[in-house]
Amino acid sequence: MTLTAWVNGEFLPLADATVHIEDRGFQFADGVYEVIACFGGTFLDLQAHLHRLEQSCQAIAIELPCCLAELEQLIRQTYQRNPYDDAMLYVQITRGVAPRSHLIKAKLQPTMVITSRALPMPSDEQITQGVTAITLSDIRWKRCDIKSIALLASVLGKQEATRQGADEAFWLDDVGHVLEGCATNCFAVIDGALVTHPLDQQVLGGITRDMALRLAAEQGIAIEQRPWHLHEAGLSECMMSSTTNAIMPVCKINDQIIATGKPGAVSILLRQQMLKTFEALKQPNETN
Ligand code: PDD
Repeated sequence: MTLTAWVNGEFLPLADATVHIEDRGFQFADGVYEVIACFGGTFLDLQAHLHRLEQSCQAIAIELPCCLAELEQLIRQTYQRNPYDDAMLYVQITRGVAPRSHLIKAKLQPTMVITSRALPMPSDEQITQGVTAITLSDIRWKRCDIKSIALLASVLGKQEATRQGADEAFWLDDVGHVLEGCATNCFAVIDGALVTHPLDQQVLGGITRDMALRLAAEQGIAIEQRPWHLHEAGLSECMMSSTTNAIMPVCKINDQIIATGKPGAVSILLRQQMLKTFEALKQPNETN
């Protein structure tokens, strides 16, 4: 399939979809983004993603280039031009084009790019065996709640994880609490409760994180949003969540094998529940 992208007011073949070299996204990473999943043509939690995009724009004082209803239509149209069964929509908004200057001297026309690609899927082995992670001390900025395109720390973290043969790197705060991954939120099961770092400026409010907490509550699993670390007594499972992973059991972190080293009951249950939700979206009568 020849990919078609939305770029600044028109749909173009991906190869022709370009932005200016003085775009502030290119020069300063001055922008924000969203990654949204779509199953069989039905979007997963689209309104929550649009809301988070609006919040991210507000947080860095970029005006949305159009209203949310129009943005939603553009996202849908981009999908229709690239209709993968399991699709990943990428939306990026930057402050716009201007001669390079840190100071924003004039009100600019924001740049907006939307693409639709196949949603990357974890391998069968990752699903059955779980994935592995390393920990790194958090070198990111102090507004990780904003979905900023400034992802250098995450790029380096992921690179280091791969170099060490792991799938993800988890950021630790100064006292060893697990904050989140390079592109995932992190959870543990401790004394039977699903534990995850509370929402503050050190973590992104993941849409899949919300879904995991919602599903856990429905299953009668206790939830604790509090700082946690890997050496707590009673820790029996770890997992990570994101739009591109759903929820994935993490069975080894650094040299620490988590419990039996196999996906635990809570991870398996939550993953099953998530996949059920995705399958339901594919049914013709579902709307989102
Ligand atoms: N990343 N934390 C960070 C730092 C992330 O980059 C992401 C997602 C998440 C999970 O958010 P959500 O559940 O809304 O996808 C948490 C996307 C997928 C990315 O950068 O590709």
